[in-house]
Amino acid sequence: MKYNFDEIVNRRGTYSVKWDGGELIKKMGLTERYDENTIPLFTADMDLPVPQPLIDALHKTVDHRIFGYSIFPNEYFEAIQHWFKKRHDWEIQKEDILFSPGTVHALTVAVRAFTQPGDGIIIQRPVYPPFTSAIEANGRELLNNALICNEDGYYQIDFEDFEEKAKDEKTKMFILCNPQNPTGRIFNKDELRRLSEICEKNNVLIIADEIHGDLTRRNQTFIPIAKASDQQGHIITFTAINKTFNVAGLHCTNVIISNPEHRKTFGSVMGMHLPSPFTVSALIAVYHEGEEWLEELKVYIDGTMEWVVDFLAERMPKVKVRIPEGTYIMWMDFSGYGLTPEEVHDRIYNKANVLLEDGKMFGEEGLHFQRICIPSPRPIIKEAFERIAREFEDLK
Ligand SMILES: Cc1ncc(COP(=O)(O)O)c(C=O)c1O
Repeated sequence: MKYNFDEIVNRRGTYSVKWDGGELIKKMGLTERYDENTIPLFTADMDLPVPQPLIDALHKTVDHRIFGYSIFPNEYFEAIQHWFKKRHDWEIQKEDILFSPGTVHALTVAVRAFTQPGDGIIIQRPVYPPFTSAIEANGRELLNNALICNEDGYYQIDFEDFEEKAKDEKTKMFILCNPQNPTGRIFNKDELRRLSEICEKNNVLIIADEIHGDLTRRNQTFIPIAKASDQQGHIITFTAINKTFNVAGLHCTNVIISNPEHRKTFGSVMGMHLPSPFTVSALIAVYHEGEEWLEELKVYIDGTMEWVVDFLAERMPKVKVRIPEGTYIMWMDFSGYGLTPEEVHDRIYNKANVLLEDGKMFGEEGLHFQRICIPSPRPIIKEAFERIAREFEDLK
Protein backbone atom coordinates (compact mmCIF):
# COMPACT_ATOMS: atom_id res chain seq x y z
CA MET A 1 0.00 0.00 0.00
CA LYS A 2 1.31 3.43 -0.97
CA TYR A 3 -0.92 5.33 1.49
CA ASN A 4 -0.86 4.84 5.24
CA PHE A 5 -4.45 5.44 6.32
CA ASP A 6 -3.65 4.45 9.91
CA GLU A 7 -1.73 7.73 10.30
CA ILE A 8 -3.56 10.10 12.63
CA VAL A 9 -3.53 13.61 11.19
CA ASN A 10 -4.54 16.13 13.86
CA ARG A 11 -7.43 18.20 12.45
CA ARG A 12 -7.96 20.39 15.48
CA GLY A 13 -7.23 24.02 14.73
CA THR A 14 -7.96 23.65 11.00
CA TYR A 15 -11.54 25.05 11.03
CA SER A 16 -12.90 21.49 10.76
CA VAL A 17 -16.63 21.17 11.52
CA LYS A 18 -15.98 17.78 13.13
CA TRP A 19 -12.96 18.69 15.22
CA ASP A 20 -13.37 22.45 15.85
CA GLY A 21 -17.11 22.97 15.48
CA GLY A 22 -18.27 22.18 19.03
CA GLU A 23 -20.38 25.31 19.43
CA LEU A 24 -22.07 24.87 16.06
CA ILE A 25 -22.65 21.18 16.70
CA LYS A 26 -24.32 21.90 20.05
CA LYS A 27 -26.43 24.63 18.47
CA MET A 28 -27.56 22.11 15.82
CA GLY A 29 -28.77 19.91 18.68
CA LEU A 30 -26.57 16.93 17.83
CA THR A 31 -25.06 16.66 21.29
CA GLU A 32 -24.89 18.32 24.70
CA ARG A 33 -21.30 17.30 25.32
CA TYR A 34 -18.37 18.34 23.16
CA ASP A 35 -14.87 18.81 24.52
CA GLU A 36 -11.25 18.06 23.68
CA ASN A 37 -11.80 14.34 24.33
CA THR A 38 -14.85 13.96 22.10
CA ILE A 39 -14.39 11.55 19.19
CA PRO A 40 -16.52 13.04 16.40
CA LEU A 41 -17.65 10.48 13.82
CA PHE A 42 -20.82 12.17 12.68
CA THR A 43 -20.44 14.24 9.54
CA ALA A 44 -19.56 12.59 6.25
CA ASP A 45 -15.98 13.61 5.65
CA MET A 46 -12.82 11.60 6.10
CA ASP A 47 -10.02 12.01 8.64
CA LEU A 48 -7.71 10.62 5.97
CA PRO A 49 -5.22 12.45 3.74
CA VAL A 50 -6.12 12.92 0.08
CA PRO A 51 -4.29 11.56 -3.02
CA GLN A 52 -0.78 12.92 -3.58
CA PRO A 53 -1.55 14.15 -7.17
CA LEU A 54 -4.30 16.31 -5.66
CA ILE A 55 -1.91 17.80 -3.10
CA ASP A 56 0.61 18.49 -5.88
CA ALA A 57 -2.03 20.18 -8.05
CA LEU A 58 -3.16 22.42 -5.19
CA HIS A 59 0.44 23.34 -4.35
CA LYS A 60 0.94 24.38 -7.96
CA THR A 61 -2.12 26.61 -7.75
CA VAL A 62 -0.93 28.17 -4.47
CA ASP A 63 2.53 28.76 -5.85
CA HIS A 64 1.08 30.85 -8.65
CA ARG A 65 0.14 33.44 -5.98
CA ILE A 66 -2.92 34.93 -7.74
CA PHE A 67 -6.41 33.55 -7.13
CA GLY A 68 -8.70 35.52 -9.41
CA TYR A 69 -11.91 34.62 -11.27
CA SER A 70 -11.47 31.34 -13.06
CA ILE A 71 -12.99 29.53 -16.00
CA PHE A 72 -13.96 25.93 -16.69
CA PRO A 73 -11.35 24.86 -19.24
CA ASN A 74 -12.00 21.98 -21.63
CA GLU A 75 -9.81 19.77 -19.44
CA TYR A 76 -12.36 20.17 -16.65
CA PHE A 77 -15.17 18.63 -18.71
CA GLU A 78 -12.89 16.04 -20.27
CA ALA A 79 -11.79 14.88 -16.82
CA ILE A 80 -15.43 14.34 -15.78
CA GLN A 81 -16.21 12.47 -19.01
CA HIS A 82 -13.08 10.36 -18.59
CA TRP A 83 -13.88 9.38 -14.99
CA PHE A 84 -17.49 8.39 -15.55
CA LYS A 85 -16.72 6.44 -18.73
CA LYS A 86 -13.86 4.59 -17.09
CA ARG A 87 -15.37 3.96 -13.66
CA HIS A 88 -19.08 3.61 -14.48
CA ASP A 89 -19.19 3.06 -18.25
CA TRP A 90 -21.40 6.16 -18.49
CA GLU A 91 -20.96 8.49 -21.48
CA ILE A 92 -21.64 12.08 -20.46
CA GLN A 93 -21.90 14.82 -23.07
CA LYS A 94 -19.89 17.94 -22.35
CA GLU A 95 -22.88 20.27 -22.82
CA ASP A 96 -24.87 18.29 -20.25
CA ILE A 97 -22.53 19.27 -17.40
CA LEU A 98 -23.41 22.22 -15.16
CA PHE A 99 -21.35 23.27 -12.15
CA SER A 100 -22.77 23.92 -8.69
CA PRO A 101 -20.82 24.98 -5.59
CA GLY A 102 -22.52 22.22 -3.58
CA THR A 103 -24.93 19.33 -3.74
CA VAL A 104 -27.33 20.68 -1.12
CA HIS A 105 -27.27 23.99 -2.97
CA ALA A 106 -28.09 22.18 -6.24
CA LEU A 107 -30.93 20.36 -4.49
CA THR A 108 -32.54 23.63 -3.39
CA VAL A 109 -32.10 25.08 -6.88
CA ALA A 110 -33.78 22.00 -8.42
CA VAL A 111 -36.72 22.14 -5.99
CA ARG A 112 -37.27 25.85 -6.77
CA ALA A 113 -36.69 25.48 -10.51
CA PHE A 114 -38.96 22.53 -11.20
CA THR A 115 -41.72 22.60 -8.58
CA GLN A 116 -44.21 25.09 -7.16
CA PRO A 117 -45.32 25.60 -3.55
CA GLY A 118 -47.80 22.84 -2.70
CA ASP A 119 -46.36 20.34 -5.24
CA GLY A 120 -45.51 16.88 -3.93
CA ILE A 121 -41.93 15.57 -3.81
CA ILE A 122 -41.15 11.93 -3.03
CA ILE A 123 -38.22 10.93 -0.85
CA GLN A 124 -37.34 7.57 0.72
CA ARG A 125 -36.70 7.74 4.44
CA PRO A 126 -34.56 7.13 6.32
CA VAL A 127 -32.57 9.58 4.22
CA TYR A 128 -30.00 12.40 4.37
CA PRO A 129 -31.77 15.18 6.36
CA PRO A 130 -31.30 18.08 3.87
CA PHE A 131 -33.69 16.27 1.49
CA THR A 132 -36.42 16.96 4.03
CA SER A 133 -35.39 20.58 4.60
CA ALA A 134 -35.15 21.37 0.87
CA ILE A 135 -38.79 20.30 0.54
CA GLU A 136 -40.24 21.74 3.73
CA ALA A 137 -38.34 25.05 3.72
CA ASN A 138 -39.68 25.71 0.23
CA GLY A 139 -43.29 24.94 1.07
CA ARG A 140 -43.51 21.76 -1.02
CA GLU A 141 -45.32 18.66 0.25
CA LEU A 142 -43.11 15.83 1.47
CA LEU A 143 -44.25 12.39 0.30
CA ASN A 144 -42.38 9.69 2.17
CA ASN A 145 -42.02 6.40 0.30
CA ALA A 146 -40.33 4.81 3.34
CA LEU A 147 -37.80 2.09 2.62
CA ILE A 148 -38.72 -1.30 4.04
CA CYS A 149 -36.20 -2.91 6.38
CA ASN A 150 -36.26 -6.71 6.57
CA GLU A 151 -35.19 -8.95 9.48
CA ASP A 152 -31.55 -8.84 8.33
CA GLY A 153 -31.43 -5.05 8.24
CA TYR A 154 -31.57 -4.99 4.41
CA TYR A 155 -33.60 -2.13 2.92
CA GLN A 156 -35.89 -2.41 -0.07
CA ILE A 157 -38.18 -0.14 -2.03
CA ASP A 158 -41.94 -0.30 -1.51
CA PHE A 159 -42.81 -0.06 -5.22
CA GLU A 160 -46.57 -0.27 -4.75
CA ASP A 161 -46.53 2.78 -2.48
CA PHE A 162 -44.03 4.54 -4.78
CA GLU A 163 -46.28 4.10 -7.82
CA GLU A 164 -49.34 5.29 -5.93
CA LYS A 165 -47.51 8.44 -4.84
CA ALA A 166 -46.04 9.03 -8.32
CA LYS A 167 -49.51 8.77 -9.90
CA ASP A 168 -50.89 11.59 -7.77
CA GLU A 169 -51.39 14.70 -9.97
CA LYS A 170 -49.59 16.95 -7.52
CA THR A 171 -46.40 14.84 -7.45
CA LYS A 172 -43.74 16.54 -9.57
CA MET A 173 -40.40 15.29 -8.31
CA PHE A 174 -38.61 12.29 -6.79
CA ILE A 175 -35.29 12.79 -5.01
CA LEU A 176 -33.31 9.58 -5.18
CA CYS A 177 -30.30 8.91 -2.98
CA ASN A 178 -28.11 6.19 -4.48
CA PRO A 179 -25.92 4.83 -2.95
CA GLN A 180 -28.30 5.51 -0.13
CA ASN A 181 -27.30 7.57 2.92
CA PRO A 182 -27.72 6.23 5.66
CA THR A 183 -28.71 2.62 4.80
CA GLY A 184 -25.84 2.02 2.37
CA ARG A 185 -28.08 0.31 -0.21
CA ILE A 186 -26.97 0.47 -3.83
CA PHE A 187 -30.11 0.05 -5.89
CA ASN A 188 -29.66 -2.50 -8.68
CA LYS A 189 -30.43 -2.12 -12.36
CA ASP A 190 -33.94 -3.60 -12.10
CA GLU A 191 -34.88 -1.34 -9.20
CA LEU A 192 -33.52 1.73 -10.99
CA ARG A 193 -35.28 0.90 -14.25
CA ARG A 194 -38.54 0.39 -12.43
CA LEU A 195 -38.26 3.71 -10.57
CA SER A 196 -37.33 5.47 -13.78
CA GLU A 197 -40.21 3.97 -15.77
CA ILE A 198 -42.79 4.86 -13.14
CA CYS A 199 -41.51 8.44 -13.00
CA GLU A 200 -41.39 8.84 -16.76
CA LYS A 201 -44.93 7.51 -17.15
CA ASN A 202 -46.23 9.95 -14.54
CA ASN A 203 -44.21 13.04 -15.50
CA VAL A 204 -42.22 12.98 -12.28
CA LEU A 205 -38.74 14.49 -12.53
CA ILE A 206 -35.97 12.43 -10.91
CA ILE A 207 -33.23 14.24 -9.01
CA ALA A 208 -30.58 11.56 -8.48
CA ASP A 209 -28.07 12.38 -5.74
CA GLU A 210 -25.30 9.93 -6.64
CA ILE A 211 -22.41 11.62 -4.88
CA HIS A 212 -21.52 8.42 -2.96
CA GLY A 213 -21.35 6.48 -6.26
CA ASP A 214 -17.60 5.85 -6.22
CA LEU A 215 -17.63 4.56 -2.66
CA THR A 216 -18.77 0.98 -3.04
CA ARG A 217 -17.57 -2.18 -1.35
CA ARG A 218 -15.07 -3.90 -3.59
CA ASN A 219 -17.51 -6.68 -4.50
CA GLN A 220 -20.33 -4.28 -5.45
CA THR A 221 -21.20 -2.32 -8.59
CA PHE A 222 -22.89 1.05 -8.76
CA ILE A 223 -24.96 1.94 -11.85
CA PRO A 224 -26.00 5.57 -12.45
CA ILE A 225 -29.78 5.73 -12.94
CA ALA A 226 -29.33 7.66 -16.21
CA LYS A 227 -27.34 4.70 -17.55
CA ALA A 228 -29.82 2.12 -16.27
CA SER A 229 -32.76 3.91 -17.93
CA ASP A 230 -33.90 3.84 -21.56
CA GLN A 231 -34.88 7.52 -21.36
CA GLN A 232 -32.84 10.25 -19.66
CA GLY A 233 -34.96 13.37 -20.30
CA HIS A 234 -36.66 13.10 -16.89
CA ILE A 235 -33.43 12.57 -14.94
CA ILE A 236 -31.04 15.09 -13.38
CA THR A 237 -27.96 13.62 -11.71
CA PHE A 238 -25.74 15.15 -9.04
CA THR A 239 -22.12 13.98 -9.02
CA ALA A 240 -19.23 15.34 -6.98
CA ILE A 241 -15.56 14.90 -6.10
CA ASN A 242 -16.58 15.81 -2.56
CA LYS A 243 -17.19 12.38 -0.97
CA THR A 244 -14.93 10.29 -3.21
CA PHE A 245 -11.77 12.29 -2.62
CA ASN A 246 -12.48 13.96 0.73
CA VAL A 247 -12.68 17.50 -0.63
CA ALA A 248 -16.02 18.72 0.76
CA GLY A 249 -14.30 22.01 1.55
CA LEU A 250 -13.54 22.64 -2.14
CA HIS A 251 -17.23 22.86 -3.09
CA CYS A 252 -17.44 21.09 -6.40
CA THR A 253 -20.63 19.41 -7.56
CA ASN A 254 -21.46 18.66 -11.18
CA VAL A 255 -25.06 18.44 -12.30
CA ILE A 256 -25.73 16.29 -15.36
CA ILE A 257 -28.81 17.35 -17.32
CA SER A 258 -29.40 15.89 -20.79
CA ASN A 259 -32.76 17.62 -21.36
CA PRO A 260 -31.93 21.08 -22.85
CA GLU A 261 -35.10 22.69 -21.47
CA HIS A 262 -34.30 21.48 -17.97
CA ARG A 263 -30.71 22.62 -18.35
CA LYS A 264 -31.86 26.11 -19.26
CA THR A 265 -34.31 26.30 -16.36
CA PHE A 266 -31.82 24.96 -13.82
CA GLY A 267 -29.10 27.33 -15.08
CA SER A 268 -31.32 30.39 -14.90
CA VAL A 269 -32.57 29.68 -11.36
CA MET A 270 -29.03 28.92 -10.15
CA GLY A 271 -27.45 32.02 -11.68
CA MET A 272 -23.79 32.35 -12.59
CA HIS A 273 -21.20 30.50 -10.52
CA LEU A 274 -17.55 30.74 -11.50
CA PRO A 275 -15.24 28.18 -9.90
CA SER A 276 -12.26 28.72 -7.67
CA PRO A 277 -8.92 27.86 -9.31
CA PHE A 278 -8.45 25.28 -6.53
CA THR A 279 -11.67 23.53 -7.51
CA VAL A 280 -10.70 23.31 -11.17
CA SER A 281 -7.20 22.01 -10.56
CA ALA A 282 -8.45 19.58 -7.91
CA LEU A 283 -11.08 18.02 -10.15
CA ILE A 284 -8.70 17.58 -13.07
CA ALA A 285 -6.09 16.00 -10.80
CA VAL A 286 -8.36 13.51 -9.03
CA TYR A 287 -10.37 12.41 -12.05
CA HIS A 288 -7.16 11.67 -13.97
CA GLU A 289 -4.80 10.55 -11.22
CA GLY A 290 -6.88 9.66 -8.16
CA GLU A 291 -7.76 6.09 -9.02
CA GLU A 292 -4.87 4.34 -7.31
CA TRP A 293 -5.63 6.17 -4.05
CA LEU A 294 -9.35 5.34 -4.32
CA GLU A 295 -8.64 1.64 -4.77
CA GLU A 296 -6.43 1.64 -1.66
CA LEU A 297 -9.03 3.61 0.28
CA LYS A 298 -11.70 1.05 -0.59
CA VAL A 299 -9.55 -1.77 0.75
CA TYR A 300 -9.05 0.21 3.97
CA ILE A 301 -12.73 1.05 4.45
CA ASP A 302 -13.82 -2.53 3.71
CA GLY A 303 -11.31 -3.71 6.33
CA THR A 304 -12.56 -1.25 8.94
CA MET A 305 -16.17 -2.28 8.33
CA GLU A 306 -15.25 -5.94 8.77
CA TRP A 307 -13.52 -5.04 12.04
CA VAL A 308 -16.64 -3.16 13.24
CA VAL A 309 -18.95 -6.07 12.46
CA ASP A 310 -16.66 -8.53 14.29
CA PHE A 311 -16.25 -6.20 17.26
CA LEU A 312 -19.99 -5.67 17.64
CA ALA A 313 -20.74 -9.39 17.29
CA GLU A 314 -18.36 -10.08 20.17
CA ARG A 315 -18.78 -7.09 22.48
CA MET A 316 -22.22 -5.70 21.65
CA PRO A 317 -24.19 -8.55 20.07
CA LYS A 318 -27.48 -6.73 20.65
CA VAL A 319 -26.53 -4.12 18.04
CA LYS A 320 -27.74 -5.15 14.58
CA VAL A 321 -25.50 -3.98 11.77
CA ARG A 322 -24.53 -5.14 8.30
CA ILE A 323 -21.78 -4.15 5.91
CA PRO A 324 -23.42 -1.68 3.52
CA GLU A 325 -23.16 -2.14 -0.25
CA GLY A 326 -21.99 1.44 -0.68
CA THR A 327 -21.02 4.66 1.18
CA TYR A 328 -18.60 4.82 4.11
CA ILE A 329 -21.48 4.97 6.57
CA MET A 330 -22.69 2.28 8.97
CA TRP A 331 -26.26 2.23 10.22
CA MET A 332 -26.54 0.50 13.57
CA ASP A 333 -29.80 -0.70 15.12
CA PHE A 334 -29.74 -0.37 18.94
CA SER A 335 -33.35 -1.50 19.51
CA GLY A 336 -32.09 -4.85 20.91
CA TYR A 337 -31.17 -3.18 24.19
CA GLY A 338 -34.76 -2.22 24.98
CA LEU A 339 -33.63 1.31 25.92
CA THR A 340 -35.26 4.54 24.81
CA PRO A 341 -33.42 6.46 22.05
CA GLU A 342 -32.61 9.10 24.69
CA GLU A 343 -30.98 6.49 26.95
CA VAL A 344 -28.90 5.15 24.04
CA HIS A 345 -27.92 8.72 23.15
CA ASP A 346 -26.88 9.47 26.74
CA ARG A 347 -24.60 6.43 26.96
CA ILE A 348 -22.87 7.14 23.63
CA TYR A 349 -22.70 10.94 23.49
CA ASN A 350 -22.46 11.95 27.14
CA LYS A 351 -20.82 8.95 28.83
CA ALA A 352 -18.61 7.46 26.08
CA ASN A 353 -18.04 10.98 24.67
CA VAL A 354 -18.37 9.75 21.09
CA LEU A 355 -20.31 11.92 18.67
CA LEU A 356 -22.38 9.94 16.15
CA GLU A 357 -25.69 10.96 14.58
CA ASP A 358 -29.03 9.95 16.11
CA GLY A 359 -31.06 7.97 13.60
CA LYS A 360 -34.14 10.12 14.16
CA MET A 361 -32.42 12.91 12.18
CA PHE A 362 -33.01 10.74 9.09
CA GLY A 363 -36.74 10.34 9.75
CA GLU A 364 -38.78 8.48 12.34
CA GLU A 365 -37.81 5.16 10.69
CA GLY A 366 -34.36 5.74 12.19
CA LEU A 367 -35.53 6.25 15.78
CA HIS A 368 -33.54 3.34 17.28
CA PHE A 369 -30.53 3.69 14.99
CA GLN A 370 -27.18 5.41 15.21
CA ARG A 371 -25.21 6.47 12.13
CA ILE A 372 -21.42 6.38 12.13
CA CYS A 373 -18.97 7.55 9.47
CA ILE A 374 -16.15 5.07 9.19
CA PRO A 375 -13.37 6.74 7.14
CA SER A 376 -11.08 7.68 10.01
CA PRO A 377 -7.80 6.02 10.96
CA ARG A 378 -8.63 2.61 12.43
CA PRO A 379 -7.06 3.42 15.83
CA ILE A 380 -9.67 6.22 16.23
CA ILE A 381 -12.55 3.93 15.22
CA LYS A 382 -11.32 1.23 17.61
CA GLU A 383 -11.07 3.68 20.50
CA ALA A 384 -14.59 4.97 19.79
CA PHE A 385 -16.10 1.48 19.79
CA GLU A 386 -14.15 0.48 22.92
CA ARG A 387 -15.60 3.49 24.74
CA ILE A 388 -19.13 2.77 23.53
CA ALA A 389 -18.91 -0.95 24.38
CA ARG A 390 -17.84 -0.11 27.95
CA GLU A 391 -20.99 1.96 28.46
CA PHE A 392 -23.24 -0.94 27.38
CA GLU A 393 -21.34 -3.69 29.25
CA ASP A 394 -23.97 -3.85 32.02
CA LEU A 395 -26.62 -4.82 29.45
CA LYS A 396 -24.67 -7.53 27.69
C1 LIG B 1 -26.39 12.08 -0.02
C2 LIG B 1 -25.66 13.37 0.23
N1 LIG B 1 -25.91 14.43 -0.53
C3 LIG B 1 -25.28 15.61 -0.33
C4 LIG B 1 -24.35 15.76 0.68
C5 LIG B 1 -23.68 17.09 0.89
O1 LIG B 1 -23.00 17.45 -0.27
P1 LIG B 1 -22.43 18.93 -0.44
O2 LIG B 1 -21.42 19.13 0.62
O3 LIG B 1 -21.83 18.90 -1.82
O4 LIG B 1 -23.57 19.88 -0.34
C6 LIG B 1 -24.06 14.67 1.52
C7 LIG B 1 -23.11 14.81 2.64
O5 LIG B 1 -23.04 14.02 3.52
C8 LIG B 1 -24.73 13.45 1.28
O6 LIG B 1 -24.49 12.37 2.03
